[in-house]
Amino acid sequence: MEEVRKEEQEVKETAKHENAPVAAAGKPARPRPTPKRQVAAAEPPTDGTVPSTQTASAEPAPHPLLIREQELKLARRRFLRRLTWGSIFTFLGGWAVAAARFFFPRALFEPPTVFKAGFPSEYTIGRVETKYQQSQRVWIVREADGFYAILAKCTHLGCTPVWIEAENKFKCPCHGSGFTREAINYEGPAPRPLERVKIALAEDGQILIDTSVVFRYERNEWDKPGAYLKV
Ligand code: FES
Repeated sequence: MEEVRKEEQEVKETAKHENAPVAAAGKPARPRPTPKRQVAAAEPPTDGTVPSTQTASAEPAPHPLLIREQELKLARRRFLRRLTWGSIFTFLGGWAVAAARFFFPRALFEPPTVFKAGFPSEYTIGRVETKYQQSQRVWIVREADGFYAILAKCTHLGCTPVWIEAENKFKCPCHGSGFTREAINYEGPAPRPLERVKIALAEDGQILIDTSVVFRYERNEWDKPGAYLKV
């Protein structure tokens, strides 16, 4: 009988341990209280009313001011993002333009210094030809026995004088310097005569002018070969 009692006691003890919650760190855990919400959801209403389909766990609707604040935050973020990208694209655009300038510099293309000025027979003796003034900055003077060419650049500050046929002189419009048809300065602030440029005959018989070669009167260069073309 004693053994039978012991066995019953052991069976009871085993059943207790199996039904108990798992212990943490060797101690028996306390049974957790069932949440009220869960109880409310689990238990049907006792007053006979139909249970509501909206559960107690539904989130309350956010306040309109909160929504507005979030919208403003989003708009501010969008604006900052656009500003950032705009700055980046502006910088890259400027850099691209600078690079293009580097590879394609704005060079000043001047006309070639050597050009043909027609045949000697096309010129009238005693006349100053001004048709190359605009394109080449040169006047060609026809004398009885030959030609010389004058650079149309004032020796004062570099303005372009004009030929005044009636007064038989070159006149600078900037400060009033005057030059004879031979290019000698005689009035105004110009300190020295105009320069003559190289003149010769090309193989085809045309007059050939080279503005890169100049002859200066004050250096006695007007007698040098190339300063005058005899025909
Ligand atoms: S530039 Fe010709 S007079 Fe001054």
